[in-house]
Formats: sequence, structure tokens, C-alpha cells
Amino acid sequence: MYTEAVTQSFSEHAELLAVCDTNQGRMDLLNRRLAAAGRPTVATYTADRFEAMIREKKPDAVIVTSGPDVTHSDYICRAMELGCDVVTEKPMTVDEVRCRRILNTVARTGRRLQVTFNYRYSPPRSQLKEILDRGDIGDILSVDFAWFLDTRHGADYFRRWHRRLGNSGSLLVHKATHHFDLVNWWIADEPEEVFCHASRRYYTPETAKRLGLEGHGERCLTCGLRSKCPFALDLASNPEMKSLYLDNESFDGYFRDRCVFAPEIDIWDTMSVSVRYRRGAIMSYLLHAYSPIEGYRIAFNGSRGRLEHTASENTYVSGDGTVPGELERGNVSITHIPEFSKPRVVEVRMGSGGHGGGDPVLLADIFHPNPPADPLKRKASQRDGAFSILIGIAAYRSIQSGKPVRIADLLEGAPLGE
Ligand SMILES: NC(=O)c1ccc[n+]([C@@H]2O[C@H](COP(=O)([O-])OP(=O)(O)OC[C@H]3O[C@@H](n4cnc5c(N)ncnc54)[C@H](O)[C@@H]3O)[C@@H](O)[C@H]2O)c1
Repeated sequence: MYTEAVTQSFSEHAELLAVCDTNQGRMDLLNRRLAAAGRPTVATYTADRFEAMIREKKPDAVIVTSGPDVTHSDYICRAMELGCDVVTEKPMTVDEVRCRRILNTVARTGRRLQVTFNYRYSPPRSQLKEILDRGDIGDILSVDFAWFLDTRHGADYFRRWHRRLGNSGSLLVHKATHHFDLVNWWIADEPEEVFCHASRRYYTPETAKRLGLEGHGERCLTCGLRSKCPFALDLASNPEMKSLYLDNESFDGYFRDRCVFAPEIDIWDTMSVSVRYRRGAIMSYLLHAYSPIEGYRIAFNGSRGRLEHTASENTYVSGDGTVPGELERGNVSITHIPEFSKPRVVEVRMGSGGHGGGDPVLLADIFHPNPPADPLKRKASQRDGAFSILIGIAAYRSIQSGKPVRIADLLEGAPLGE
């Protein structure tokens, strides 16, 4: 997404100087693709030469898109210390120690950090923000939010690095950072206290047994049960996945198709989070990773009415060539129910492109030198990045302790900035 933006749509304003990754094969693939498209190839640096890359190429900004998410904070901080601004993929990081390090580094270096919350930019979500900002339902007293990942998309987080808490902070951070950011932004408030219950009762050996998959292998490619497994991922038959992942395994041993029933999984597939906000609103949030449906429903209860919003998203497996998170036209609704009155169906503005039409608008906000002033304040900073992950981090700390967790206790006074 970023390579396309820099080398094509925004090539007038930006230049891709180099890429850095642990996997030389994937960087070479990028250069083969650039060459095939008639565009200049770029310098490649393996991860151990990150600082050499910054010194030699002198970029204005570094875009951090590495996975596992736990790798983000080190690149963010080192890039800022070397004088660069940073754009980072969500989640900004995965735990409170790394979060504090980032906040302290932003404050110390004075560099800019942007977290790319593409969901904010999609037309229906921006429209919801306009309605709430106008005060159509008065003060927001509570939020009721449920997000459903289906058995295709949801399962994908149990195949690779996401499935370890230490890599991703679990789906409470990796995935819910989008959702918590949306709510923080929609209601223009910041979280204060969090409590969470969670379990993993679907991606388990018991489900493997129920589906007749006992004795499954480590990965789909070599699993004797793959022909009867509804979760089998065939890397070899999808050209995009084959070239990105399968063909580059020899460089780092990264298997993209590990079994979703593996014993090493330590994240949850069912999560229920309760959040209290600074101005008094409370939120109930539910995340499922094995649903027959893909999408979400949210309701805001205000002092002067209620706002309901539902959306179905397309289902996909990351990296399979499908545009991710597209909204299904006709399956997105916004309903305003004013106090003492009947429901009013709001005509929904739709967009096209990844993440409900958010990706193209976000890219303009990153790469255009003079983006138009945005009354919705969609450009997200380290402060927004921090609050969106701190809810998830507090949630898993709450699971571990069985007690509510205060966000201020995780921050330990770290400077949030603007
Ligand atoms: N905004 C969104 O909607 C969205 C969607 C998908 C992914 N993401 C984010 O993008 C990031 C990457 O996700 P992905 O699905 O492409 O992951 P991936 O595993 O498919 O790719 C990660 C890349 O990082 C490289 N890498 C691994 N360790 C590294 C290290 N220490 N240093 C440098 N490079 C390293 C890998 O070789 C690989 O090329 C994640 O942080 C994820 O949360 C965001």
C-alpha cells in the first residue's frame, strides 16, 4: 500500500529511498515488481543495518510496517533519535513499557509520529463522527460495541506471529486498537479504567477433535488432514501468498500457514471489555474471532437519543490479494433515534478502496504536503496511538490480575503530548 502510494500516486511529493526487512527475499521481490512496473528499484537493507540505512539515505521519514507488532517500538524510537519523523502501522506497540518508551522519545526528540488509523477515514465512520460532534444525541453516556471476525479472517490470527501475546499483545491490542481508536475518536474522550474477561474456546484441540482433525500437522502445507480441514490455507495455490511467503521461507523459516489448533497459542478468541471514560461514558465491547459473520454493530446512548451503526465487511486473509476490510454496499446502516421520537434512517456515504474507503484518504493525509484542513481531526498522533493500545494492554493486564486496571498506572506519568 505504501510502496504504491510513494512510487505512484504521490511520486510528485515523495520518494522511496530504501526498504529494510529481516527477509532479503521479500525485499528482492519488491524490486522485481518495481522493475516489472517500469519504476526505479530501491536500496535494500537487512534489519541489522537499519541505522546504516538512515545514515546513508537520510530520509525525512520512516514508515514502520514490520510484523510482529512488538518490533515497531524499536524502529520508531531509533528513527526519531536519528532525526526522522515516523509513520507507523497500528498497533503503535504491544505493551506499556514500550508505549512509555515511545512517548518519552517523542517528547525528547520533538519528532512527529503518526499512527495510521485508516478506519477513521472511511466515509461512513467519518459521517458517524460528524453526527456525534454535532451533538444530535446529546452527551454520550454509554457505548455498546460488538465486532465479529469470521472463521476465515478471524482464524488467520491464529496461524502466525499474532497468536503469541508477546508478539501482538493479543487481538485486544493487534485488532482492537482500530476499534478502541474509533470509539476514543468518535466520542472525543480518553479511557480511564478497564476490566476484561476473555477465553479461548474455539481455536483449541477440542475443536480439532470435534472436526475430526486430531493428529493434525504443524502447518497446512505438509498436513495429512488438510483436504478435510475447513481452516487449511493453501499457500501454493494463491499466487500472491506464494510469492510473498512460501517462496521466501528459506530466508527466515517464517511459516504463514501454521495450524490454528497449535498448543503454543496463548491469545484469546472471545473477549469482553468494560471501559470507563474520563467524562463518565462507559463502554461494553465484545470481540469474537470465530463468527459466521464479518463486521460489527455499535450503539451510542446519549442524553438526547441513540445512534446505531452496523456494517458488514468483506472477508479475507491478509496478503491473499483481496482488498481488505471493504464495506458491503447495502449492508451498512446508520439510524438516529432522537429522544421521545421515532427512528430516522440516515443515508450512508460510501467510499471505495481498502478499509471501507479509508485507505486512499489516509494516504493523501500522509503523503500530500498540504492536505486540506480536517475538521474531523483524523490524523492520529502518538497520544491517540497510546490510548487505543492502552485499553487493550489494560484489558490483558486485567485478565492476568483479575482486577480493573487504571490507564494512568500504565502510563506512569509518561508525556502524552498533543
Ligand atoms: N492498518 C491496517 O489495517 C493493517 C492491515 C494489515 C497489517 N497491518 C499492520 O502491518 C504490519 C505488518 O503486518 P503484515 O500482515 O504485513 O505482516 P507480515 O508478517 O505478513 O509481514 C511483516 C514483514 O515484516 C518483516 N519483519 C519481521 N521481523 C522484522 C524485523 N524485526 N525487522 C524488520 N522487518 C521484519 C517480515 O519479514 C515481513 O516482510 C503489522 O504491524 C500489522 O498490524 C495493518
